[in-house]
Amino acid sequence: MRYYGCKTKLLDYIEEVVTGLSLKKGSIFFDIFSGTTAVGKHFKKLGYTVYSNDFLEFAYSLAYTNIQTNSLPKFKKLSLSIDVIDYLNNLGGKIGFITKNYAPYRENKRQYLSIKNAMKVDAIREQIEIWKNKKAISETEYYYLLSSLINAISLTSNITGTYAAYLKTWDNRALKDLKLQQGEIFNNKMKNRAFRADANEIVNKYKVDILYLDPPYNSRQFASNYFLLELIAEGWFKKIPEIYGQAGMRPYEKQKSDYSISRKASDALLDLVMKAKAKYILLSYNDEGIISIPELKKILGTRGEVIEYTKEHKRYRAINQDGSKIITKEYLFLVKVKK
Ligand SMILES: C[S@@+](CC[C@H](N)C(=O)[O-])C[C@H]1O[C@@H](n2cnc3c(N)ncnc32)[C@H](O)[C@@H]1O
Repeated sequence: MRYYGCKTKLLDYIEEVVTGLSLKKGSIFFDIFSGTTAVGKHFKKLGYTVYSNDFLEFAYSLAYTNIQTNSLPKFKKLSLSIDVIDYLNNLGGKIGFITKNYAPYRENKRQYLSIKNAMKVDAIREQIEIWKNKKAISETEYYYLLSSLINAISLTSNITGTYAAYLKTWDNRALKDLKLQQGEIFNNKMKNRAFRADANEIVNKYKVDILYLDPPYNSRQFASNYFLLELIAEGWFKKIPEIYGQAGMRPYEKQKSDYSISRKASDALLDLVMKAKAKYILLSYNDEGIISIPELKKILGTRGEVIEYTKEHKRYRAINQDGSKIITKEYLFLVKVKK
């Protein structure tokens, strides 16, 4: 999935540092800012018990499916004659909230999705909600289908990477037909868990071996940058969302992260670190973040000695004016928490 700050390219680097700790199989790895779950999925495969948390609903949906779920849902109650993913892919399209507001349908100008794909999204999302309300699918099945839809939308959205704006011309990926895929469920036989909470509120509720922190590091709020995925996850069935502006943004005041507000970020991190109940704290950050590196070290240093690892990383799609790729320094800070 395309996601700002996604750590897919840094997994080996993170693994190397964690493996160096020689923790026993099944140790608890808490990915408390989980986003796409790329990091949690990796450590789940390595045999850790993974706890995954993010305060956004679409990220929770991914965590529920990719982390907490250990076996492919069977959808027995639906009694369909074909596979549920094929069933949803074969639904005819429907003109609904997404088509009217996020595809260039009639007078609407926004083109996040093609009309055909937006109509599919409307039909599929509504069907999932109907099954949920009728209790024809379990919570696990609900999130499995929702995750599949979120991934499919991410692959066919007419954007450069975030939903802050749509492209004025059609990107090739947006012209492809939206298609749900079967989710990949990995069973690591551990009691993995998914949470949807503010990191600072949940951090002291669980004793863990590794607390992995990958907070937002710049002022772009994830709730606004990925508002369309959040809208899909929350749905528009109980109350039609009041959307506004050129992008058709949904209100996100309640989902603003302190980590993206320069005057609040350091205090938020200090509070998180102080409350952590972990043997080790591992923090990802980079040299373009709103908290300076010396400040980060000072915060982490309140819990023990800080070991610093750095790696140069070509940033996703970021290009200098001379055409060269922007290189950022990716930091990992490890703290063995003092008793
Ligand atoms: C840099 S991204 C994490 C990316 C993730 N490691 C990945 O590989 O996809 C930061 C995440 O933190 C979440 N977030 C921001 N503030 C939060 C908070 N206070 N509590 C919980 N999650 C938060 C955002 O929704 C976002 O998904």
